Amino acid sequence: MPKNQLTRREFMRVGAGAATLGVASHAAFLTPSFAAAAPRSVPPSDRVRFASIGTGVRGCEIMRAALACPGTEIVAVSDLYDGRLTAGQENAGKQLFTTKDYRAILDRQDVDAVLVATPDHWHRKLVEDACAAGKDVYCEKPMAHTVEDGFAMVEAMQKHKRVVQVGSQVRSSVVYAKAREIYDSGFLGQVTAIEAWIDRNDASGAWIYPIPPDASEKTIDWNTFLGSAPKRPFDAKRFFRWRCYQDYGEGLPGDLYVHLLTGIFTITGINEPPLRAATLGGLFRWTEDRDVPDLIWTLYEYPNFRLSLRCNLNNESPGVTRIFGTKGTLEIKNDVLTATPQDTEPRPESYSIYGWPEKLRNEYLEDWRKKHPLPEPGKYPLGQSAQTFQAPPYYDYSVDHMHNFMESVRTRKPSVEDAEFGNHTAIACHMANYSHFQKTMATWDEAAKKIKG
Ligand SMILES: NC(=O)c1ccc[n+]([C@@H]2O[C@H](COP(=O)([O-])OP(=O)(O)OC[C@H]3O[C@@H](n4cnc5c(N)ncnc54)[C@H](O)[C@@H]3O)[C@@H](O)[C@H]2O)c1
Repeated sequence: MPKNQLTRREFMRVGAGAATLGVASHAAFLTPSFAAAAPRSVPPSDRVRFASIGTGVRGCEIMRAALACPGTEIVAVSDLYDGRLTAGQENAGKQLFTTKDYRAILDRQDVDAVLVATPDHWHRKLVEDACAAGKDVYCEKPMAHTVEDGFAMVEAMQKHKRVVQVGSQVRSSVVYAKAREIYDSGFLGQVTAIEAWIDRNDASGAWIYPIPPDASEKTIDWNTFLGSAPKRPFDAKRFFRWRCYQDYGEGLPGDLYVHLLTGIFTITGINEPPLRAATLGGLFRWTEDRDVPDLIWTLYEYPNFRLSLRCNLNNESPGVTRIFGTKGTLEIKNDVLTATPQDTEPRPESYSIYGWPEKLRNEYLEDWRKKHPLPEPGKYPLGQSAQTFQAPPYYDYSVDHMHNFMESVRTRKPSVEDAEFGNHTAIACHMANYSHFQKTMATWDEAAKKIKG
């Protein structure tokens, strides 16, 4: 649970007094949906039995989210490091079947679904094998390490008719659902420009995580960790700080752009690769032990708008998504949503006519006023003011996202963030990296399903 987050019960007790705890003044609270709103009982026949593959930081978080959903039960855990097998059981709150070989989990008949939270270079193999074994899969974002991996994962989902849900949780957030409602209402008019960023300014934000003192080849299955990546001698930095290396992750785009993209896709309703991407990035400060930039800035071309995304590990500012339309602006800043109308009241030209002779100018103004008579006193249109919304402080949208997954597993309804969606956001991340590393504009070739320079 994030700092200062209240439980639902605490929130009900303190109500509006929650203003001191990171709640925007004048914000309307959105109603949480699903699991976060009201726990309900689920008949034993609808119980979903799941196992976790990868119980590091995020694996433990999503395990807890899954256990917070009604009618779920964890039966097994797989990880490559002894410490994480222990952490997995601690988070489950009970002794479980544990294994360093995930195939032992896929062989079990009592597992309906698996949660995959390994480094990205393992996602494809795990999703393919889990689908082939008849398991539904919640796979962490970014779905795919490469473009090729992404299409193979879509194929696995379709071929084996499994539910595959990608774990970019803003997809199920009530804040983004409200933003989508405002977008669909036409409030923004024509949207042509979007900008978004997530910035950080500390070692943890730059993925320089401490290495546990017992990390060694005795406690870690290093060869399996490498998987499809190039072979190398044991290196605990690579194991625990894998995001710093292209062999296992996709740097800032794979880590953070993907959340921004998922939010923007959710609001605007798009679900497709960008046409083009141009990135300028650089490695300026966290220069040791990594081969990915610490600043990345990309301009994307989508058919109806242009999008600027940025992640900077060298300055902290609140994460923002801003959507600019001819009639209004939508902003999500630290999960507070504000919709601000543009002033579109008709007005006479007030700039260029001052280069006209006075007589012509006055005639123009008189004529304009005749065509736009002032309303009668008391009938002036009221200016619309900005509206602000936010989720209650106890709200955890990872739980709603997981609940959506569990409902798809039960009902076979398509996932809210299936492999095709996850593939499209991942492709945008790959294009950002391609442009940066190849020093060229990246173009999506839809026929060849490839990025071209
Ligand atoms: N949705 C989010 O907000 C969010 C947040 C953080 C991380 N993530 C994603 O979650 C995934 C994991 O990230 P993390 O921070 O938890 O990493 P982590 O390093 O903390 O944990 C990864 C774990 O996976 C295990 N592992 C690797 N290969 C395995 C295999 N073949 N079988 C079983 N276990 C294996 C490792 O032993 C390790 O303990 C990544 O894809 C990351 O992008 C998502």
